[in-house]
Amino acid sequence: MNKELKEKAVKKALSVRENAYAPYSNFKVGAAIVTKSGKIYTGCNVENSSYGATVCAERIALFSAVADGEKEFEAIVIASDLNGEAAYPCGLCRQVIGDFSRDIIVILLNSTTLKIEKEIPFEEIFPHAFDF
Ligand code: THU
Repeated sequence: MNKELKEKAVKKALSVRENAYAPYSNFKVGAAIVTKSGKIYTGCNVENSSYGATVCAERIALFSAVADGEKEFEAIVIASDLNGEAAYPCGLCRQVIGDFSRDIIVILLNSTTLKIEKEIPFEEIFPHAFDF
């Protein structure tokens, strides 16, 4: 992915995080997924008083892309609220991402520096994903 597109996705992940609806956990997450065609879709976590109805930022970004006809992804940038650290995507989101792109790059931002902390091939954090 070119540098410009990556920087744009980083900015979008950070700005969509502001829209997170997280009154229960107070843990805001923003995600920006980059398609192989060079488009960016964003998502933030949206919580619910019935906790299990909460949807993570990563899935909202991915589902929004799929709803727009995109199914091939190059990278996903994740901005969280973890104190000075980079938060990894949850297991459920990994499974969802894996159904679409096993070769996606996961880019994690440090919540203090707001800079990229890690760039990890998806297979490294979710090997042997379920599929049939
Ligand atoms: N959350 C995400 O948005 N993405 C993840 O990968 C992990 C967790 C959200 C869900 C919930 O609103 C809050 O973070 C605390 O779990």
